Amino acid sequence: MSQRKLFVTTALPYANGHFHIGHIMEYIQADTWVRAQRMQGHQVNFVGADDAHGAPIMIAAEKAGKTPQQFVADIAAGRQQYLEGFHIAFDNWSNTDSPENHELSKQIYLDLKAAGFIETRTIEQFFDPEKNMFLPDRFIKGECPRCHAKDQYGDNCESCGAVYAPTELIQPFSALSGAKPVLKTSEHFFFKLSDPRAVAFLTEWTQNGQHVQPEVAAKIKEWFGTRTNPDGSTSTGLDDWDISRDAPYFGIEIPDAPGKYFYVWLDAPVGYLASLKNLLNQRGEDYDAYMADPALEQYHFIGKDIITFHTLFWPAMLKFSGRKTPTKICVHGFMTVNNGEKMSKSRGTGLDPLKYLALKMNPEWLRYYLGAKLNGKNEDIDFNAEDFMLRVNADLIGKYVNIASRAAGFIAKRFAGKLGAVAEDGQALLAALRTQKDTIVAAYEARDTARAARDIMLLCDKVNSYVDANKPWELAKQEGMDARLQDVCSTCIEAFRLLTIYLKPMLPAVAEQVEAFLKVQPLQFADAELLLGPGHAIGQYQHLMQRVVIEQLEALFEPPAAPVVEAVKPGGEEIAPTITIDDFAKIDLRIAKIVACQAVEGSTKLLQLTLDVGEGKTRNVFSGIASMYQPEQLVGKLTVVVANLAPRKMKFGLSEGMVLAASHADEKAQPGIYILEPFPGAQPGMRIH
Ligand code: MSP
Ligand code: ZN
Repeated sequence: MSQRKLFVTTALPYANGHFHIGHIMEYIQADTWVRAQRMQGHQVNFVGADDAHGAPIMIAAEKAGKTPQQFVADIAAGRQQYLEGFHIAFDNWSNTDSPENHELSKQIYLDLKAAGFIETRTIEQFFDPEKNMFLPDRFIKGECPRCHAKDQYGDNCESCGAVYAPTELIQPFSALSGAKPVLKTSEHFFFKLSDPRAVAFLTEWTQNGQHVQPEVAAKIKEWFGTRTNPDGSTSTGLDDWDISRDAPYFGIEIPDAPGKYFYVWLDAPVGYLASLKNLLNQRGEDYDAYMADPALEQYHFIGKDIITFHTLFWPAMLKFSGRKTPTKICVHGFMTVNNGEKMSKSRGTGLDPLKYLALKMNPEWLRYYLGAKLNGKNEDIDFNAEDFMLRVNADLIGKYVNIASRAAGFIAKRFAGKLGAVAEDGQALLAALRTQKDTIVAAYEARDTARAARDIMLLCDKVNSYVDANKPWELAKQEGMDARLQDVCSTCIEAFRLLTIYLKPMLPAVAEQVEAFLKVQPLQFADAELLLGPGHAIGQYQHLMQRVVIEQLEALFEPPAAPVVEAVKPGGEEIAPTITIDDFAKIDLRIAKIVACQAVEGSTKLLQLTLDVGEGKTRNVFSGIASMYQPEQLVGKLTVVVANLAPRKMKFGLSEGMVLAASHADEKAQPGIYILEPFPGAQPGMRIH
């Protein structure tokens, strides 16, 4: 086949959170496909980007006290460790707030407008009367008008995938304030999907068997059919799509419409093109020329929840703005963990990708495990810890790596690392491996990596049977069998090289280690036709992969340790160490009457109190309560004094006791000091026990 020219993307993740395992699954699937293409010599540009715009990000940024741009940049800064960690090799990672995306989105819009596909209409929209803003779809919640799932967002149901207007929600409420939203009018811009040209194009495009999987086409077909609206009326065809939002909004301002912004889903897929353009600019290549090539194929990998946007809105935007439409939309299902609930799209659960890496678990275990489950259909897949361990250990260690470890030692020790000829009976084995190449390549092409993994493991079984039948460890002990030993082991190494080629899209790092060990150039599918051949010197075999151990999985799924219980600090300080009643008895607390009170000149803190403690004379006491009380407020009041405290000489005079008052330990955080006052009936001089 001649060299294909491919432009490949994955869905652009919302930039309001870190990657979760669902994102990683999508990237692993796409990355594996891309690597399989490159191994056939095809030319690929594989790009991603952050989906930066929209009200949720604007609101999250505001909460975090950052500008939306800063907020998105901070999330973006955390992306690389995941991508590197799982060997996901995007050629570029941009974001939808880039200058390229602003420009392209506006241009596409203007082209659509020129073609007669944009219309303005005054609509009634939900407005939060408490927050004083039009409510973004994601901040209106209620019951799905189609499947009646509760607590669904205003634009699209996570349960059945329906896309609708927020006003169609049953029993709506504002997720920002909880208030019942009110309807208010505003002028909005619409993309006229109801235009017969759009309906005709999309019917053909989605149903001609070329661009989407059959199960996806069937689902889309339902959306074209007659359906019943919540108000009882029926509609056929497609509804126009509301593509504008009112300020305040983090997005791209609509040309000649101040205060109006593109709805995030308008500019998000344009971000695919913008990231590509950004990449080509960096390389000094021409974007327009690249896109103009009719041979260019455009592939988008996405999850099943965003089919509508990618199979209706996006192809129509491209088509009617005069651009190339996608070649294929590759839809995958959702990933669940340990038979768990469907993961929350925004939160994710179960398997923390960074924790997986921090535990030094091999990323290629996950790549292989997911590859072995994904079959190119949009079915959900489950990550099951035990299944994972068994599968990886049985297939990768028991079947694949085992072949090299059984043969390489003898070649190194007995033949100075030099390969011999392929044994007579080995020819058939290698031929059997080679004939599977096209089937395996086709399975990768169809994203049926489950099929590829199955086929490759059957081939591993064949090679292991060959080893078992020829028993190199016994040949090694027999006189005069050196040549045979070398040929048998060489056959195994040749076979191992073929298997490595086949597994390489799923196991790129292992393949790289094998390339170093076999001393070969980066392996391509075409290399399956070759032999290393007699005399080729291989390197020292080093163990290629550890097995999965149960402790790692236990650690991976161990709930995060409960936070260490901090000492309780009432009033900002811990309770003082225990004392005995005798200790307490040493303190003589008495009721005192404040007979006079005055400010202290030269001190803003102190008040000077004259106290009657029933002693037939008064006492003079200074107290740091001036911030809280006016002197005249206190005169005549009863309070409590430490009566046997040693008198203290102060700058302002002698203090003959201490008035009790309450305060928080951290006076800056919680200012305020409060003196005590006994219940009525207490008399000056009474002791407090
Ligand atoms: N920002 C939009 C996409 C815009 S594309 C122009 C979005 N972002 S997302 O972060 O919510 O999802 C990104 C991708 O991750 C989607 O393809 C989505 O289907 C996928 N996944 C999210 N959770 C998933 C699983 N639990 N399992 C597999 N994929 C999932 O949607
Ligand atoms: Zn629904």
